[in-house]
Amino acid sequence: MDRIVIKGGKPLKGEVMISGAKNAALPILVSSLLTDGWNTYHNVPDLKDITSIKFLLSNLGARIETYGNTVRINTKSVNKYEAPYDLVRKMRASILVLGPLLSRKKKAKVSLPGGCAIGARPVNLHLKGLKLLGVSYELKHGYIEAVADSLSGCDIYLDLPTVTGTENLMMAAVLAKGKTILRNAACEPEIIALADVLNQMGADIEGAGSSVIQINGVSSLYPVEVSIIPDRVEAGTFMVAAALNRGDIKIIDCEPDHLKAVIHKLKQTGTQVNVNGKTIHVKGTEKITAIDIKTLPYPGFPTDMQAQFMVLMSVAKGHSIISETIFESRFIHVSELRRMGADIKVSGNTAIVKGVQMLSGASVIASDLRASASLVIAGLVAQGTTIVNRIYHLDRGYEHLEKKLIKLGADIQRMR
Ligand code: EPZ
Repeated sequence: MDRIVIKGGKPLKGEVMISGAKNAALPILVSSLLTDGWNTYHNVPDLKDITSIKFLLSNLGARIETYGNTVRINTKSVNKYEAPYDLVRKMRASILVLGPLLSRKKKAKVSLPGGCAIGARPVNLHLKGLKLLGVSYELKHGYIEAVADSLSGCDIYLDLPTVTGTENLMMAAVLAKGKTILRNAACEPEIIALADVLNQMGADIEGAGSSVIQINGVSSLYPVEVSIIPDRVEAGTFMVAAALNRGDIKIIDCEPDHLKAVIHKLKQTGTQVNVNGKTIHVKGTEKITAIDIKTLPYPGFPTDMQAQFMVLMSVAKGHSIISETIFESRFIHVSELRRMGADIKVSGNTAIVKGVQMLSGASVIASDLRASASLVIAGLVAQGTTIVNRIYHLDRGYEHLEKKLIKLGADIQRMR
């Protein structure tokens, strides 16, 4: 099983290019189910999760061609409507095929995703919205078996601003009869990106990026050629890495507008952050000031940046209170950081971090995607050698992370 070995203490210097956003690419590739013909997607990141969604779509009968970071998908020959457990359990975002399959095929059999390291991850809000659109479903043997004679627009209030729930329902409503309103919808940039692609396909969606999205159903959609937006979480991860060891990194080809909360909080730590067009220049300082963090739905501070920030706070001056309000168990990285000498106490969904002089290298285990990124960052700042095990988690969401870090001067290597 692959692992990453890091010798810490070297400041990162140079430029890094940000890859396409995993969480935009996944729903956009799935939206190909809504139309016949060849769709072309550029700037698709080379990630395990992308491989998984392509495998799932080809399992349904789609034709897929990949040329580097360009993926072409034609779903005209899709003749199945089942997303099996062994695929869905590897990647929860497979639930995104539910809406489009019901839109296109009027039936779907999708495994319930089940929980994961960071929480129970229910999909009850996805199912509540689908039912209001006219879908009837049964939960049988761990599967959602759903059918819909026709889908009719309606008014859906989401109890929580679920990201993939908003995406699933948008894709279920685009070909429905009449108008659908999604209230308390998620506002993430990835929602806007999906709505932009659907509108380029001929959909009629207004309000994406706000908490009220209106979808006027159309009769059909046509294939598109689009490019995936930059990954704001990858960019944020490199920003935190630059803040450590007094690094000095230019993060290029990113979208600073998607990172306002992260930029604001990083500046509060005393880190120098300068935005210039699509480049963010981050310079670490000697004294990192401890600050408090509370994760919130976008545009609040992103939960996907919580673990990375916790590493920064572990070596800051003072105490930091980190509240995780999105997922119920997203502190799994704490026990591993403690093994590296971090002083962190957890009570419920709050972690109290007391900055220490230095972390020390250790052998640690990655548990989920962002936790594994935080352990790599911790290894970069720790004294001595850190071995991060189970880095398949990392490969799900970071394109060639160690190659990008080596280019920035990190002493890091992947061991088979
Ligand atoms: C998306 O997950 C992202 N994944 C996550 O990124 C991200 O952390 C999360 O949004 C929050 O921003 C993708 O986009 C593929 P939610 P998602 O539905 O959609 C509860 C990463 O590292 N909820 O917005 O699954 C849920 O339990 C991943 O890239 C319900 O109760 O998250 C959670 O507490 C990790 N019922 C909250 O809502 C539902 O039906 C937010 O979940 C749906 C969600």
